[in-house]
Amino acid sequence: MDFKLTEEQELIKQAARDFAQNELLPGVIERDENQQFPKDQVKKMGELGFLGMMVDPKYGGSGLDTLSYVLVMEELSKIDASSSVIVSVNNSLVCWGMETFGTEAQKEKYLHKLATGEMIGAFCLSEPEAGSDATSQKTTAIDMGDHYVLNGTKNWITNGGTAGVYLVIAQTDKEKKHRGINALIVEKGMEGFEIGPKENKLGIRGSDTHSLIFNDVKVPKENRIGEDGFGFKFAMKTLAGGRIGIAAQALGIAAGAYELALKYSQERKAFGTEISNHQAIAFKLADMHTQIQAARLLVYQAAKDKDNGENYDLSGAMAKLYASQVAMDTAVEAVQIHGGNGFVKEYHVERLMRDAKITQIYEGTSEIQKIVISRAILK
Ligand code: CAA
Repeated sequence: MDFKLTEEQELIKQAARDFAQNELLPGVIERDENQQFPKDQVKKMGELGFLGMMVDPKYGGSGLDTLSYVLVMEELSKIDASSSVIVSVNNSLVCWGMETFGTEAQKEKYLHKLATGEMIGAFCLSEPEAGSDATSQKTTAIDMGDHYVLNGTKNWITNGGTAGVYLVIAQTDKEKKHRGINALIVEKGMEGFEIGPKENKLGIRGSDTHSLIFNDVKVPKENRIGEDGFGFKFAMKTLAGGRIGIAAQALGIAAGAYELALKYSQERKAFGTEISNHQAIAFKLADMHTQIQAARLLVYQAAKDKDNGENYDLSGAMAKLYASQVAMDTAVEAVQIHGGNGFVKEYHVERLMRDAKITQIYEGTSEIQKIVISRAILK
């Protein structure tokens, strides 16, 4: 498999790298500390086309391939994973889901705004008792003829407070189990739709995570995505691509932590020489470098599979499983290489370590990825 980047992909990667250095790095520590949503940065990312990267230009998107998207995700995540998760959810889950399965009217009404960052989207599947076990939806969308009535609670929703549009998964017909689930487009401000408290998180603290409460929210039938009962398949298909975005985020966190550790180890002296000259540190760097490159190949493979129209359930799950483990391991080692400084916020690696953890949890825990992988290889 040839992963040589085209000239255009190299330029996109460089643009994301420059943006991360110039626009995300300043204030990243304060945004993390204060749980501050990167409002201005999101606006600029919209202007640069990062929020609708794979969307057709006729809907305001950049019309790029998945590989370009993961290159951008990697570069943004090296510096600020709070910002990159906003990019990932908006691109992979909301824009892709709507463009692939939405009606022309839905795309005209919402997609242009989502792709340009005029508003951002949220994907609402998880519930207090339906995280990994996603078919156990308690939120209901009762069919009332020309509309649905939505009731229930969603949890841990990225962009929960800041989104303008929410793709909400809910049970319409309990008898039909997962085949009785629908995906509905809910707008902020619809009567009965309430945004719950903001979560106080370990990592990605600049991103905006809320619970959502639906009390008899009237959602017009034309806001349903796909046929009646398509909602669970919609969620699974959308998440399969979402996992490639999160794998790229994990890769970026690992690469960011590694770059900082490499630089630090060549500056910091102990026992009369730079610490990189000690085998104890050099071998850590060797492991980190090797694992990051292996993760990168898995992430690129999954992106290529998607771009080539091949099935990417397995390659996306493998990329996420492995890259998230590498993110965690690399960030922990980067803190270790920094010693006491690694424990201090201004050196950035402690934040990357906290941010890495969520990549093993959201869009399917590592255990869920192993279910997907083992089912694919055993079937
Ligand atoms: N593509 C299409 N259809 C799929 C599919 C896929 N990748 N995976 C499953 N399905 C379909 C199956 O074909 C089946 O449909 P039929 O019976 O009609 O054939 C249906 O879905 C149910 O499948 P399973 O019997 O395999 O269901 P299961 O209960 O065993 O669960 C699971 C499968 C993979 C464990 C799934 O529940 C799952 O992925 N769980 C994790 C959920 C998750 O990722 N949550 C993340 C929340 S979103 C988030 O984090 C976003 C954020 O804000 C960052």
